[in-house]
Amino acid sequence: MKLGLGSRKAFVTGASRGIGRAIASAFAAEGIHLALFGRDQKRCKAIADDLRERHAGLRIVVVRLDFEQPDTVKPAVDAAARQLGGVDILVNCAGGAHRGRLNEIPDDAWERYFKVKPLGLIRMTRETLPYLKQSDQGRVINISGTRGREPEAHSMMSGPINFGTLSLTKAMANEFGPFGITVNAIAPGSTATRRWTELVTITARERGCSAEEAEKYLLREVPLGKVITPEAIADLAVFLASARAGLISGCAINVDGGRTRSI
Ligand SMILES: NC(=O)c1ccc[n+]([C@@H]2O[C@H](COP(=O)([O-])OP(=O)(O)OC[C@H]3O[C@@H](n4cnc5c(N)ncnc54)[C@H](OP(=O)(O)O)[C@@H]3O)[C@@H](O)[C@H]2O)c1
Repeated sequence: MKLGLGSRKAFVTGASRGIGRAIASAFAAEGIHLALFGRDQKRCKAIADDLRERHAGLRIVVVRLDFEQPDTVKPAVDAAARQLGGVDILVNCAGGAHRGRLNEIPDDAWERYFKVKPLGLIRMTRETLPYLKQSDQGRVINISGTRGREPEAHSMMSGPINFGTLSLTKAMANEFGPFGITVNAIAPGSTATRRWTELVTITARERGCSAEEAEKYLLREVPLGKVITPEAIADLAVFLASARAGLISGCAINVDGGRTRSI
């Protein structure tokens, strides 16, 4: 399938690691020029250097952005748009959640994580929207999470953060549709980033078993029996960014090996 993404321009938040990094890498392979947003400039610059080396001719800019400092969002977006010469695709990937049950999560953790997702996503999208309106193929791709559809007591924070992201995706799709901009969400299940390594370690400690047994235990409810790779999320992001997905909007697609029980 020809996706025709060459020379498009994308903003990727959370590009310094995990899923965001995989999306940036997959986009670069399609010839998409990139702005990598992150707090850790050293990591982002190393990723940009690596991508430039592998994909000659790509324009890749690195922009410092910390969602805990809301005033940095607009200047970061404007600087990236200026350096790239506009933007067609926004991927809101930055995020995370404090693990635990209701009485295990302090107030400051709720506030800190909500500043990144969904609040950071709201601010990022609002500031990028004027630029997306100038594109003939505007795309917003929000990285949510399956806990947004199926909350769990042991991951209390992941529920509202990702549910909010899904709700925003639908409402933004309604608002941006008349400008030809699609808005979709990808909901990853447990994905092999540093969060997965942490979870395996905690589970092995709690159950007094090996890391291998802990992984097996964690995957017992995944019909395909596999942990999700960041590259699998990135593949879907590439498709949603393309013209071939031009009639898909307001959707949330799970990439979870079949774990989510609802349809
Ligand atoms: N991994 C999973 O199992 C899973 C499952 C469901 C949903 N998700 C979602 O997928 C997305 C990516 O997750 P991941 O596993 O790839 O996480 P990760 O490896 O921990 O990466 C998180 C990214 O978010 C950035 N970030 C965090 N706080 C920020 C802030 N205040 N300002 C700007 N950037 C900030 C981080 O930047 P720094 O490098 O500066 O910290 C990093 O690039 C998140 O939205 C997460 O909720 C992940």
